[in-house]
Amino acid sequence: ILRSPQALQLTLALIKPDAVAHPLILEAIHQQILSNKFLIVRMRELLWRKEDCRRFYQEHEGRFFYQRLVEFMASGPIRAYILAHKDAIQHWRTLMGPTRVFRARFMAPDSIRGSFGLTDTRNTTHGSDSVASASREIAAFFPDFSEQHWYKEEEPQLR
Ligand code: TYD
Ligand code: MG
Repeated sequence: ILRSPQALQLTLALIKPDAVAHPLILEAIHQQILSNKFLIVRMRELLWRKEDCRRFYQEHEGRFFYQRLVEFMASGPIRAYILAHKDAIQHWRTLMGPTRVFRARFMAPDSIRGSFGLTDTRNTTHGSDSVASASREIAAFFPDFSEQHWYKEEEPQLR
Protein backbone atom coordinates (compact mmCIF):
# COMPACT_ATOMS: atom_id res chain seq x y z
CA ILE A 1 0.00 0.00 0.00
CA LEU A 2 1.33 3.40 -0.95
CA ARG A 3 0.92 5.83 1.91
CA SER A 4 2.64 8.80 0.38
CA PRO A 5 3.69 10.00 -3.04
CA GLN A 6 7.34 9.81 -1.94
CA ALA A 7 6.91 6.03 -2.17
CA LEU A 8 6.41 6.37 -5.90
CA GLN A 9 9.59 5.84 -7.90
CA LEU A 10 10.16 7.91 -11.02
CA THR A 11 11.70 6.89 -14.32
CA LEU A 12 12.36 8.50 -17.68
CA ALA A 13 10.78 6.67 -20.61
CA LEU A 14 11.37 7.58 -24.24
CA ILE A 15 9.51 6.46 -27.32
CA LYS A 16 12.11 6.53 -30.08
CA PRO A 17 11.72 7.84 -33.66
CA ASP A 18 10.92 4.42 -35.17
CA ALA A 19 7.87 4.04 -32.91
CA VAL A 20 6.72 7.66 -32.92
CA ALA A 21 6.64 7.48 -36.73
CA HIS A 22 3.97 4.76 -36.63
CA PRO A 23 0.72 5.98 -35.04
CA LEU A 24 -0.57 2.50 -34.22
CA ILE A 25 2.68 1.49 -32.53
CA LEU A 26 2.88 4.80 -30.68
CA GLU A 27 -0.68 4.29 -29.43
CA ALA A 28 -0.03 0.67 -28.45
CA ILE A 29 2.97 1.70 -26.34
CA HIS A 30 1.01 4.54 -24.74
CA GLN A 31 -1.78 2.07 -23.89
CA GLN A 32 0.76 -0.26 -22.24
CA ILE A 33 1.83 2.63 -20.03
CA LEU A 34 -1.79 3.24 -19.01
CA SER A 35 -2.81 -0.39 -18.56
CA ASN A 36 0.22 -1.00 -16.35
CA LYS A 37 -0.99 1.76 -14.04
CA PHE A 38 1.92 4.10 -14.46
CA LEU A 39 1.13 7.65 -13.49
CA ILE A 40 2.11 9.95 -16.36
CA VAL A 41 3.73 12.81 -14.49
CA ARG A 42 5.01 14.71 -17.53
CA MET A 43 4.98 14.11 -21.28
CA ARG A 44 6.44 16.02 -24.21
CA GLU A 45 7.32 15.46 -27.84
CA LEU A 46 10.46 16.92 -29.33
CA LEU A 47 13.15 16.64 -31.93
CA TRP A 48 16.46 15.94 -30.27
CA ARG A 49 19.56 17.94 -31.09
CA LYS A 50 22.50 15.68 -31.86
CA GLU A 51 24.69 17.20 -29.18
CA ASP A 52 22.03 16.53 -26.52
CA CYS A 53 21.79 12.96 -27.79
CA ARG A 54 25.53 12.51 -27.54
CA ARG A 55 25.54 13.79 -23.96
CA PHE A 56 22.57 11.62 -22.98
CA TYR A 57 24.28 8.48 -24.30
CA GLN A 58 27.84 9.42 -23.33
CA GLU A 59 28.30 6.19 -21.33
CA HIS A 60 28.30 4.45 -24.74
CA GLU A 61 30.82 6.75 -26.40
CA GLY A 62 33.33 4.64 -28.33
CA ARG A 63 31.06 1.60 -28.72
CA PHE A 64 30.50 0.42 -32.28
CA PHE A 65 26.86 1.51 -32.31
CA TYR A 66 27.32 4.98 -30.76
CA GLN A 67 27.36 7.06 -33.94
CA ARG A 68 24.44 5.11 -35.43
CA LEU A 69 22.47 5.50 -32.20
CA VAL A 70 23.01 9.28 -32.10
CA GLU A 71 22.03 9.69 -35.77
CA PHE A 72 18.92 7.60 -35.25
CA MET A 73 17.76 9.31 -32.07
CA ALA A 74 18.00 12.71 -33.78
CA SER A 75 16.35 11.50 -37.00
CA GLY A 76 12.74 12.26 -36.06
CA PRO A 77 10.39 13.22 -33.24
CA ILE A 78 10.59 11.37 -29.94
CA ARG A 79 8.21 11.34 -26.99
CA ALA A 80 9.53 11.69 -23.44
CA TYR A 81 7.64 10.74 -20.28
CA ILE A 82 8.25 10.97 -16.59
CA LEU A 83 6.48 7.88 -15.26
CA ALA A 84 5.69 7.16 -11.62
CA HIS A 85 5.04 3.70 -10.18
CA LYS A 86 6.06 1.96 -6.99
CA ASP A 87 8.69 0.06 -9.01
CA ALA A 88 8.90 2.36 -12.04
CA ILE A 89 12.46 1.71 -13.20
CA GLN A 90 12.42 -2.08 -13.23
CA HIS A 91 8.77 -2.33 -14.23
CA TRP A 92 9.25 -0.17 -17.33
CA ARG A 93 12.43 -2.03 -18.31
CA THR A 94 10.60 -5.36 -18.02
CA LEU A 95 7.77 -4.04 -20.18
CA MET A 96 10.30 -2.86 -22.80
CA GLY A 97 12.11 -6.21 -22.90
CA PRO A 98 15.74 -6.92 -23.85
CA THR A 99 17.80 -4.34 -25.74
CA ARG A 100 18.65 -6.51 -28.72
CA VAL A 101 15.90 -7.41 -31.13
CA PHE A 102 16.89 -11.08 -31.47
CA ARG A 103 16.76 -11.65 -27.72
CA ALA A 104 13.56 -9.60 -27.43
CA ARG A 105 11.76 -11.56 -30.16
CA PHE A 106 12.68 -14.94 -28.77
CA MET A 107 12.87 -14.41 -25.04
CA ALA A 108 10.17 -11.78 -24.48
CA PRO A 109 7.95 -11.83 -27.58
CA ASP A 110 5.12 -9.98 -25.83
CA SER A 111 7.33 -7.17 -24.58
CA ILE A 112 7.31 -3.81 -26.37
CA ARG A 113 10.66 -4.46 -28.06
CA GLY A 114 9.70 -8.07 -28.74
CA SER A 115 6.51 -6.89 -30.44
CA PHE A 116 7.71 -3.80 -32.30
CA GLY A 117 11.52 -3.64 -32.28
CA LEU A 118 13.07 -3.54 -35.75
CA THR A 119 16.82 -3.74 -35.06
CA ASP A 120 19.19 -3.46 -32.10
CA THR A 121 19.23 0.32 -32.65
CA ARG A 122 15.60 0.85 -33.76
CA ASN A 123 14.21 -0.76 -30.66
CA THR A 124 11.22 1.53 -29.91
CA THR A 125 11.88 2.67 -26.35
CA HIS A 126 14.33 3.78 -23.69
CA GLY A 127 14.12 3.45 -19.92
CA SER A 128 16.40 4.65 -17.14
CA ASP A 129 18.44 1.83 -15.58
CA SER A 130 18.96 3.12 -12.01
CA VAL A 131 17.74 5.73 -9.56
CA ALA A 132 20.78 7.88 -10.33
CA SER A 133 20.32 7.68 -14.10
CA ALA A 134 16.59 8.37 -13.74
CA SER A 135 17.38 11.62 -11.92
CA ARG A 136 19.96 12.65 -14.49
CA GLU A 137 17.74 11.74 -17.45
CA ILE A 138 14.61 13.40 -16.04
CA ALA A 139 16.59 16.61 -15.53
CA ALA A 140 17.87 16.42 -19.13
CA PHE A 141 14.35 16.47 -20.56
CA PHE A 142 12.44 18.35 -17.86
CA PRO A 143 14.87 20.89 -16.36
CA ASP A 144 12.13 22.64 -14.34
CA PHE A 145 10.85 19.44 -12.77
CA SER A 146 11.33 18.91 -9.03
CA GLU A 147 11.43 15.30 -7.81
CA GLN A 148 10.80 16.53 -4.27
CA HIS A 149 7.77 18.66 -4.98
CA TRP A 150 5.98 17.46 -8.10
CA TYR A 151 3.08 15.79 -6.25
CA LYS A 152 2.32 19.04 -4.43
CA GLU A 153 1.75 20.83 -7.70
CA GLU A 154 -1.90 19.86 -7.99
CA GLU A 155 -3.97 21.69 -10.53
CA PRO A 156 -6.09 24.07 -8.44
CA GLN A 157 -9.20 23.62 -10.59
CA LEU A 158 -9.25 19.90 -9.75
CA ARG A 159 -9.43 20.38 -6.00
P1 TYD B 1 21.92 -0.02 -23.68
O1 TYD B 1 21.98 1.03 -22.62
O2 TYD B 1 22.89 -1.14 -23.63
O3 TYD B 1 20.46 -0.67 -23.79
P2 TYD B 1 19.05 -0.20 -23.14
O4 TYD B 1 18.43 0.79 -24.09
O5 TYD B 1 18.25 -1.48 -23.06
O6 TYD B 1 19.34 0.39 -21.80
O7 TYD B 1 22.09 0.68 -25.12
C1 TYD B 1 21.48 1.92 -25.37
C2 TYD B 1 20.95 1.91 -26.78
O8 TYD B 1 22.03 1.75 -27.70
C3 TYD B 1 19.99 0.77 -27.11
O9 TYD B 1 18.68 0.99 -26.69
C4 TYD B 1 20.11 0.74 -28.62
C5 TYD B 1 21.58 1.05 -28.85
N1 TYD B 1 22.35 -0.19 -29.06
C6 TYD B 1 22.63 -0.59 -30.34
O10 TYD B 1 22.26 0.08 -31.32
N2 TYD B 1 23.31 -1.75 -30.55
C7 TYD B 1 23.73 -2.53 -29.52
O11 TYD B 1 24.36 -3.58 -29.75
C8 TYD B 1 23.44 -2.11 -28.18
C9 TYD B 1 23.91 -2.93 -27.01
C10 TYD B 1 22.75 -0.94 -28.00
MG1 MG C 1 20.71 1.79 -21.17
